Amino acid sequence: MDLGIRGKTAIVNGGSAGMGRGSALALANEGVNLYISARSQERLENTCRELAEVSGSKVTPIVADHSTPEGREAILSACPEPDILVTNCSPPPFTGDYKTVAREDWMTNLEVTLLSPVEFMKQVVPGMVERGWGRVVNIGTGAAKFPAEVRILSGPPRAALVNYSVAVAKAVARHNVMINNVLPGMHHTAAIEDRYKAAAKAHGTSYEEEVQKFIDEWRIPANKFGDSEDFGAFVALFCSEQAAYVTGQSLVIDGGITNATF
Ligand SMILES: NC(=O)c1ccc[n+]([C@@H]2O[C@H](COP(=O)([O-])OP(=O)(O)OC[C@H]3O[C@@H](n4cnc5c(N)ncnc54)[C@H](OP(=O)(O)O)[C@@H]3O)[C@@H](O)[C@H]2O)c1
Repeated sequence: MDLGIRGKTAIVNGGSAGMGRGSALALANEGVNLYISARSQERLENTCRELAEVSGSKVTPIVADHSTPEGREAILSACPEPDILVTNCSPPPFTGDYKTVAREDWMTNLEVTLLSPVEFMKQVVPGMVERGWGRVVNIGTGAAKFPAEVRILSGPPRAALVNYSVAVAKAVARHNVMINNVLPGMHHTAAIEDRYKAAAKAHGTSYEEEVQKFIDEWRIPANKFGDSEDFGAFVALFCSEQAAYVTGQSLVIDGGITNATF
């Protein structure tokens, strides 16, 4: 299926690894010109080179921390008028007892998970409105919808982001600017590999065994973690021409872990 976005321009924040990379790959394969941000230069440049090679699209790396004003300025001066914005970051640290989460932890995580996407939307959505075409996708977390004590730094800021983005989505939908959220459960990404390889080392097990432990504990019906490139395909779908009547939605992609009817 042709998503009808060949020649469009996209910012993908946090696109050098994991689901951000999967999203960037799907967009590059649709002929979208990409501006990808991340903090670590080497991984970012490697990713951009790989995506350009496999897709033939133009892929520009921007080494920047999108949670800082300087980082946002670097990204927006490289690409001031994107047609598409994908917001993403690394998973916030897992939390233990809710009483141990400090104010500083909140502030750092709010900057990256909530305020950065809000700032980007404020900067780029007005231009999309003027040009009569725009797509924004926020990569959040299933924990936004289904809270858990271990995800206290991840779920609440993204629940706020979903609320904000739906409010903005309603204000701009008549201008063909569509804003949606994709909320992942567990997927194989760089962050997840780091976490479960470290657990495997500590427990004398393998990555696969640690993943299976989580699957069993959380009873994931698909009996596996998701694939970040499959995930990216859904992000690209929300960025498509065909998404012109879909806005303010939050799609959970979690292998069936959540059991709400709607
Ligand atoms: N993986 C899962 O199973 C899972 C489950 C639920 C929710 N999620 C959510 O999905 C999102 C992506 O997770 P992931 O596992 O794909 O993460 P990941 O593998 O760590 O990839 C994150 C990407 O974002 C970049 N990044 C992080 N912070 C940044 C910043 N401040 N400025 C610019 N770039 C930044 C990273 O590169 P640099 O480090 O070089 O900056 C990397 O390219 C997160 O919001 C996470 O909470 C993931």
